[in-house]
Amino acid sequence: MPIQPLLILATRNAHKTEEIRHILGDRFEVLDVTSFPDLPEIEETGTTFLENARLKALGISRRIKGWVLADDSGLEVDALGGAPGVWSSSYGGEEGNHMKNNERLMWEMAGKEERSARFRCTLVLAKDGEEKAVFTGTVEGRIAESPSGNGGFGYDPLFIPTGHSSTMADLGATVKSTLSHRAVAIRAFAAEVEKMDLIH
Ligand code: IMP
Repeated sequence: MPIQPLLILATRNAHKTEEIRHILGDRFEVLDVTSFPDLPEIEETGTTFLENARLKALGISRRIKGWVLADDSGLEVDALGGAPGVWSSSYGGEEGNHMKNNERLMWEMAGKEERSARFRCTLVLAKDGEEKAVFTGTVEGRIAESPSGNGGFGYDPLFIPTGHSSTMADLGATVKSTLSHRAVAIRAFAAEVEKMDLIH
């Protein structure tokens, strides 16, 4: 097998790492920052997905050699004026508590007819503290009346992608890896790497 170039993900979210590994197949050896325990936590103080992805990509690539990819992502719900957006991971009041986030979303959406929403993903690729490229992906859908399914993570039990009648959590990892916001952005990244012969 050819040597796999190393790609370091600027995330501690094991779900993101797993999904990105699944989408990229064996093209790269994918590690995340949990393999580098001395790295500091990067504060996500931005107000857009791009700002936060930049903070993570540059913050990690200043401290580590090699190619670094940061994912910042979240859910935008039209009836909530685009919330939770960049604050998706702490919407329920506690950072990374997916159950509380989903409870708040269900509560906010109770009785609402307009249920359109989308997941967005912004990826920033960096090396030696310099930004090299940005990739984005979106998946449109709607918010379910009640949660369903065990796959995925975060808001997946409440998100029904357009063209489907089940939630992302019901559809499972294989379908999610073909249509998710992260899959769209990661495929754009992989195509650019191929075209520019970027990472080897
Ligand atoms: P980040 O780590 O700041 O990018 O926060 C991402 C947050 O957005 C997660 O904690 C989830 O709440 C939500 N999110 C992002 N991607 C997904 C996904 O693929 N499925 C469900 N929720 C997601």
